[in-house]
Amino acid sequence: MLQKMKGTYDLHDTMPLVHDIERAIQAVSRLFQYQEIRTPHFELSELYHRSVGESSDIVSKETYDFKDRGGRAVTLRPEGTAGVVRAYVENKLYAEPIKPQKYYYVGSMFRYERPQKGRFREFRQFGAEAFGSEHPELDAEVIAYAITFLRALKLKNLTVHVNSLGDATSKTAYRAALKAHIAPHLETLCTDCQTRYHDNPLRILDCKVDTRHEALQTAPKPLDYLTEPDRQHFDAVIALLKAMDIAYTIDNSLVRGLDYYTHTVFEIKVDPDLLGNQNTICGGGRYNHLVESLGGPSTPAVGFAFGLERLMVALEAAGLQGKVQPLYCYVAALDESSVKYAMALMQSLRMRGLTCNMGFERKSLKAQFKQSAHQHARFVIILGEAEIASKTVQIKDQTSGDSFSVPLDEVYSTIMAQLSTASDCETCGHKGASS
Ligand code: HAM
Repeated sequence: MLQKMKGTYDLHDTMPLVHDIERAIQAVSRLFQYQEIRTPHFELSELYHRSVGESSDIVSKETYDFKDRGGRAVTLRPEGTAGVVRAYVENKLYAEPIKPQKYYYVGSMFRYERPQKGRFREFRQFGAEAFGSEHPELDAEVIAYAITFLRALKLKNLTVHVNSLGDATSKTAYRAALKAHIAPHLETLCTDCQTRYHDNPLRILDCKVDTRHEALQTAPKPLDYLTEPDRQHFDAVIALLKAMDIAYTIDNSLVRGLDYYTHTVFEIKVDPDLLGNQNTICGGGRYNHLVESLGGPSTPAVGFAFGLERLMVALEAAGLQGKVQPLYCYVAALDESSVKYAMALMQSLRMRGLTCNMGFERKSLKAQFKQSAHQHARFVIILGEAEIASKTVQIKDQTSGDSFSVPLDEVYSTIMAQLSTASDCETCGHKGASS
């Protein structure tokens, strides 16, 4: 039997939770005025080499690269920022009159990583990218957007970790200080860190192997090397988080694994009891030079991305399961000749916004009641020859246990009257058909 590939998964029984998450993404994006953008799942490999960076783990070890039939070097997208920036430049979105331009996206990303809980080879991100303002308000708004999304999902026990790498001058000064500090200990660090020392020294700080190494514990802090304007930017972001009542922790070892970051970097972590080691559900930061380096005008930008699988595990572990859309009417046809009347009744109820289902297997009434119970149907509507002859159906309210006879053309109004205490339906907006 063919099986799914390592690091991939099928989604079926958790779809209600996926839909809750997608509804929250849309609702919160509307509140913050971010527009959806969809970009391709594959791009020229060069895009990721020039943005995420040659020396990043993602590009050096994890991309799915292939040559297409035209001989082009192509990569399945490992993250969303590079593609959105490419689209921003290529479509001249910077010329749009509304500033800053704010986009969000949801979709699959691909990284050839060692699969484990919360780490997949195809995983989904909800990401956001905001272009066109260098002011700290945009950094703070992006963090507020991420936190508001998690509040909409009712997820608690989170920590927002923030740090600043500053711009080029600060980063260069810090890189030199870090290298000078690490140099005497280089041979005692893991082999990956020995390579990082030359290619990407900041990444040594988030090494998972050498976490307890004394050289890392005593390493200089990026914040101590910020130029005055960079320090002011970071202080302003922190002041804005305080003003918006968003709790945060300054994390001196947070550097992020992608090359494009400048200034603010942040991650949102959930309690490790919920997720174990892969407890970072969101990562992001500012990237003021990426648009320009990909051929666009100099445009400051900031964004984030959530890993949706990790978010789902955290929600489930916190007892926040998806909300199943309710089934209101289960129509039980008693015999062959009633089936077409059952179909006609369902169609008229569905057209008016009521969820309906029936059995399609000509089972006994008892078996149909059992099916309706599995589907948590609120009402069972019974239709047989006698009901069709008298144009009257039997309705059983499964919640109260009451049964009543109702003329066929009053089924809808009767059910709506029973539901009238409920609020509006979330899916169809119909009065009374609430979840
Ligand atoms: P990232 O930190 O590489 O950042 O990924 C963001 C989030 O995606 C992680 O915090 C994690 O929750 C999730 N994630 C990453 N890899 C995997 C995996 N193999 N399996 C499951 N989940 C995973 C970025 O991708 C940046 N583009 C974020 C950004 C947007 N920065 C600015 N704008």
